[in-house]
Amino acid sequence: MKIVIGNDHTAVSMKQDIIRYVESLGHEVTDFGTNSAESCAYPVYGEKVARAVAAGEFDCGILICGTGVGISIAANKVNGVRAAVCSDATTARLVKAHNNANILAFGARIVGIELAKDIVRAYLEAEFEGGRHADRVAMLAEIEERSK
Ligand code: RB5
Repeated sequence: MKIVIGNDHTAVSMKQDIIRYVESLGHEVTDFGTNSAESCAYPVYGEKVARAVAAGEFDCGILICGTGVGISIAANKVNGVRAAVCSDATTARLVKAHNNANILAFGARIVGIELAKDIVRAYLEAEFEGGRHADRVAMLAEIEERSK
């Protein structure tokens, strides 16, 4: 898969480890995040990754900030994006299977690197189940339409 990743200053080291891990699983990773430890604004990276995913340039995205929350909120402002913050592998599997989340987010201050790898792997290996879940995901797009 073609995967885009983004992060703020809290997650530089974890992002670099995750890129290596995702590449070792056979995926292609493009890095839109910062590689500087200097304090920066997570919405910049959330939006950049979200717009690229929404435009269909990548199969999915990964976002990392301190908690995963700010950067996922930013991403979810972009129409067509379903970014989900996960702190465990089961949730990561289910956000793909049920919500068809196209961006996975997590917090570098919340999960350690081994758990982060488990989360990423569970998300990447899961598949959207469709059926009743597709109807519900379609309802999310309808909310976006009503909010324009
Ligand atoms: C940065 O200090 C921190 O606020 C950010 O990484 C993130 O946790 C926001 O949600």
